[in-house]
Amino acid sequence: MLARRTLNAISYPLSKSAHGITRGFYGSRFTPKARGMATSSDDLVGFGQRHVTAGIGRLTEAVMSKGEGSYLSFEDGRRMLDFSCGIGVTNLGHCHPKVSKAAADQCTSLVHGQCSIAFHLPYLRLIEKLLPVMPDRSLDSFYFWNSGSEAVEASLKMARSITGRQNIICMQGGYHGRTYGAMAVTKSKTVYSEGFFPLMPGVFSTPFPFWHQSGLPPNTSEEELVRLSLYQLELVLKQQSAPKDTAAILIEPVLGEGGYVPAPPTFLQGIRKICDEHDILLIIDEVQSGFGRTGKLFNVEYSGVRPDIMTMAKGLANGFPLSAVVSRKDLTDRLKPGSMGGTYAGNPVSCAAAVAVAEAFEEEKVLDNVSARSHELLTSLHSLRNDPVVGPNIVDVRGAGLMVAVEFASPSYPLGDPALNPSAPKGFAARVARRCMDKGLLILTTSIYEVIRFIPPLNISQSDLEKGCDIFAAAVKDVIREG
Ligand SMILES: Cc1ncc(COP(=O)(O)O)c(C=O)c1O
Repeated sequence: MLARRTLNAISYPLSKSAHGITRGFYGSRFTPKARGMATSSDDLVGFGQRHVTAGIGRLTEAVMSKGEGSYLSFEDGRRMLDFSCGIGVTNLGHCHPKVSKAAADQCTSLVHGQCSIAFHLPYLRLIEKLLPVMPDRSLDSFYFWNSGSEAVEASLKMARSITGRQNIICMQGGYHGRTYGAMAVTKSKTVYSEGFFPLMPGVFSTPFPFWHQSGLPPNTSEEELVRLSLYQLELVLKQQSAPKDTAAILIEPVLGEGGYVPAPPTFLQGIRKICDEHDILLIIDEVQSGFGRTGKLFNVEYSGVRPDIMTMAKGLANGFPLSAVVSRKDLTDRLKPGSMGGTYAGNPVSCAAAVAVAEAFEEEKVLDNVSARSHELLTSLHSLRNDPVVGPNIVDVRGAGLMVAVEFASPSYPLGDPALNPSAPKGFAARVARRCMDKGLLILTTSIYEVIRFIPPLNISQSDLEKGCDIFAAAVKDVIREG
């Protein structure tokens, strides 16, 4: 009786008069039939704005209703070409039939197979799929969790526990997530840590070889940027965190939230050398750059560098919550049983989806498509840059595979920044993204700079890629015209 009354008390606030929405969630008394479901997209958005925490920012105030391949539909009737992929997740497009079927089938056999109770089959099958494609043969010990942040947290715990050392060196401009440990090693924007101090101690940062990061012009040679960054890293080890106190160096091989900047292979090789000299572990965060996003299965393959620990998520299960940490058995054998784990870690439905992703990747020759579409995308962006009106507004086109960025000039960069241009339009990237949306293309900005990132599905068709590039070019021209 009490339970029923409590339920009703929860249900009442969902009535239209109190909250502007009549969709019922609890029991037949409040079903859409009994109350009349709100059909207006505006009502739904209003409800969301009132009841979803303000801590979440959104690209658009709308309600997603359906994802199909490279397209996303909304309750307000719009259907958009999706160059965001849910922030680099739906690499095989929305609701890939093979992946959705594998998940649906798994739902009828085992939904929750808790990893501290026993092994389960999709977990083991997924390891079987991943083992042969790891960027180094030594990477043979896996741990699955739900999100990228959790994978990063696990990698930090592993590094501290395995080495018996405390400090972590990360990169200025790096992004690793929003949970406490991941937030402490995130240095891309202050919004992720502002108001949340004190952060996890024992974290030191050093400049990523990115011209902005050193206040140098965009055409600075890669060699010079690498030399400066390795020099700064050596200084951190001499002035701030002694090698004997340093457990790990953590790096994204392509800065994501920092502006879509690939690390030159020589930088990763230099870090590997420093790690080897001092028995420091190298953690490579492939959460965003992994699973074919940059043209190889893992971006670190471009450098041939061996990670000691590698984190993965996003494309791993094409939208089902799943992340992974891989390391060497000789290292992970040093962890105490029970020190790692989580109620939902390595969920069977997500693992079954990830197995299907691995199969589809091979069957559909996805990497070949990445290579062809990447060439077309970069050609289109470079030709836009060659346009006499647009060109002066673009300071950089960069990236690899289908993880590509365009950076615009800005009148509000810090004084001394080489991309500072007092006559450039204000808020360029966000305005371009809004214009693209008006024209039917979902596209994201990134970093503290004026950067638009291109992360279309890896299996996108030639015509859809071309359509997106045309919309982008038109949006850029609109913003320049408006000034
Ligand atoms: C490189 C990198 N690491 C970690 C994360 C955090 O992943 P999640 O948002 O799944 O917690 C992200 C998310 O964008 C990322 O790009």
